[in-house]
Amino acid sequence: MQKTTNRPVIIEWRDGQPYSSLFQDVYFSSDNGALETEYVFLQGNNLAKRWFELHSNHFVIAETGFGSGLNFICAAKLWLATAPKEATLHFISTERYPLSLQDITAALQPWSELHEFSAPLIASYESICNGEPVNMLYGNRVQLSLLIGDAAESLQALVVTDDRINLVYPKIDAWFLDGFSPAKNPDMWQPALFEQMARLSKQESTFATFTCAGVVRKGLLAAGFEVTKQAGFGKKREMLFGRFTGHTNATVVSMMDL
Ligand SMILES: C[S@@+](CC[C@H](N)C(=O)[O-])C[C@H]1O[C@@H](n2cnc3c(N)ncnc32)[C@H](O)[C@@H]1O
Repeated sequence: MQKTTNRPVIIEWRDGQPYSSLFQDVYFSSDNGALETEYVFLQGNNLAKRWFELHSNHFVIAETGFGSGLNFICAAKLWLATAPKEATLHFISTERYPLSLQDITAALQPWSELHEFSAPLIASYESICNGEPVNMLYGNRVQLSLLIGDAAESLQALVVTDDRINLVYPKIDAWFLDGFSPAKNPDMWQPALFEQMARLSKQESTFATFTCAGVVRKGLLAAGFEVTKQAGFGKKREMLFGRFTGHTNATVVSMMDL
């Protein structure tokens, strides 16, 4: 496993899009990263409906692989449009190889329709990466915690007491499983990650991921998630979404032939 450092990772740019030399993989779909986020992570977790009907003052998302923050700002935009004004979105993300301020700024630049959401993130990005624990953004309606380090290790360090995480927020409502393809980043997609997901999930917590790799399907099933397969975004044939039940004897449901 590679070491985590506080130094920003060095990346390449291919056709104006960020590309990881370390993992030989893209940060988001070359078809359209923002539409991919909407299809895979926002719709995959049914967030618009859940937030429109929210009867709580908190909703907690956890993500593996913050990258450019595109998933974060798309989620924040939807939250502001659909959730009750008094509720707070807690967005916990993990990142082992943070982008530099210059690269995250360039990566988010093409999404002009998202500039009002990317600008506050970029303005706070360096203090967020330096471990600022509570970052309130968008009129204090969204709280971002970026945990620098390996996803499973960072999640393992979160303490659960009386169904609250670090005494601050409730357990996780929805997971964004990002983090480069399992074939290119096998270190991250390990049973330890799925076990932490189970430990930190609320009953009925949901997840969505762009991949349908066997190691992910099997890992999630073994950790007590119900797993459904559906058509993927763009060139990807399949993706997965599902929910936490705590039962480890489920099988994969397929929506591919419906
Ligand atoms: C495909 S990119 C994520 C894209 C991102 N969600 C976005 O909105 O731009 C994958 C990210 O996972 C990070 N990553 C890779 N291995 C990791 C690990 N073991 N723990 C945490 N993050 C990891 C990479 O550094 C990279 O930023």
